[in-house]
Amino acid sequence: MDWIVRKSSALQDEVVLDVPGDKSISHRAVMLASIANGVSRIDGFLDGADTRATVNIMRQLGAKIIEHSRTSLEVHGVGLHGLRKPSADLDCGNAGTGMRLLAGLLCGQNFPSTLTGDASLSKRPMQRIIQPLQLMGAQIDSENEQRPPLKIQAVDALHGVSYRPAVASAQVKSAVLLAGLYANGTTRVDEIVPTRDYTEQLLREMGWPIEFGPGFAQVQGKAELRAVDINVPGDFSSAAFALVAAIISENTVTKIRNVGLAKARIGLFEALRLMGADVKIENQRDTFAGPVGDVVASSSKLHAIDLPTELVADMIDEIPIFCVAAARANGVTRIRGAAELRVKESDRIHAIASNLERMGVRVTQFDDGMDIEGGCELNAADLQAFDDHRIAMSLSVLAGQVEAVSQIRGVENVATSFPKFVETMSRLGYAIEVTA
Ligand code: S3P
Repeated sequence: MDWIVRKSSALQDEVVLDVPGDKSISHRAVMLASIANGVSRIDGFLDGADTRATVNIMRQLGAKIIEHSRTSLEVHGVGLHGLRKPSADLDCGNAGTGMRLLAGLLCGQNFPSTLTGDASLSKRPMQRIIQPLQLMGAQIDSENEQRPPLKIQAVDALHGVSYRPAVASAQVKSAVLLAGLYANGTTRVDEIVPTRDYTEQLLREMGWPIEFGPGFAQVQGKAELRAVDINVPGDFSSAAFALVAAIISENTVTKIRNVGLAKARIGLFEALRLMGADVKIENQRDTFAGPVGDVVASSSKLHAIDLPTELVADMIDEIPIFCVAAARANGVTRIRGAAELRVKESDRIHAIASNLERMGVRVTQFDDGMDIEGGCELNAADLQAFDDHRIAMSLSVLAGQVEAVSQIRGVENVATSFPKFVETMSRLGYAIEVTA
């Protein structure tokens, strides 16, 4: 599937938007509700292919999940030890979060299971979770150089560990903590940089014995989870596209309602402010998942920055759309310390650099980042999304600023996180046409 993108039309003065539910919270909520005692209700669930894959997997493992609507689930938990051996492989689709967290959840079970994924997920590194889970006593076989599928063997027991991941990764931390639920003793993770803590927040909300703070988390094994009602806020990572589109368009103010604003997620907000963007938060309130509020962005004149490396982990999924802002900012924006981008749904450094160059932007690639010379005249181009949802959406935001028509190839995976993206962007005046 491709997109044809035309220049955005003049916007209304003020646009008010909603974005889909948070992907990270949706995965975790359905996994944990499935092993809780009792019935949990999840509202605002992300109706995307990634999180749907996790719902299907939890059903294959024995949880009863009733859909009141596409975004409202009733999960009948089977208890910590109630999951059962699946009769087929468990297909995580495109979802790195699904696969890595499920590996943590499944490696302490007394039945075997196999986690598979699509072509992109099958190329992503799994050693980062296999290694700590093996230290806990898990038995996991992988294919070519620790890549999926992951074949998990039945075990009698896991034991707690104290682990310090080499990369800043909420997925690695969460995989270890989820295995820790099934381990004897204490399981602790210390991070080099604090990452999103939704696993920890949900565990606490569900009554599990856990201690955590920025950069560390510690669980006791073998307790019980109680069912809860969860309201999933809008995903800041999805809001980011509308946010940047508003900033680089003319004469508009856009409000995106009910967005999760946990500190470890909103590095982009800070980075855009440093570039001179007019962005603010309104109506902020506290929830179990951190602050939630409305994000308001107005058309702004941007200038280049050296992106502070301490912001990178807090905006790791937003670097592609940040690069779009950089292409519209006067001067050279420098990004470093972002080597993790090489192992996301695509090699995002290569994906962004090669497409920006096609549009006339000068980019220098480094192993762990890029220099982007912004503010130049852009041309329409034939662009390649590399089957990566965030690359597709980021490119459309920039292509919609150009007079002539651009084509973006390989956009199917936008359905993993933001199925109604085209509709949402049309509210911002973007004309995106879907072609087969
Ligand atoms: C996620 C963590 C991040 C992020 C991903 C979602 C999560 O990955 O990029 O989209 O839900 O834990 P890493 O843990 O690999 O940094």
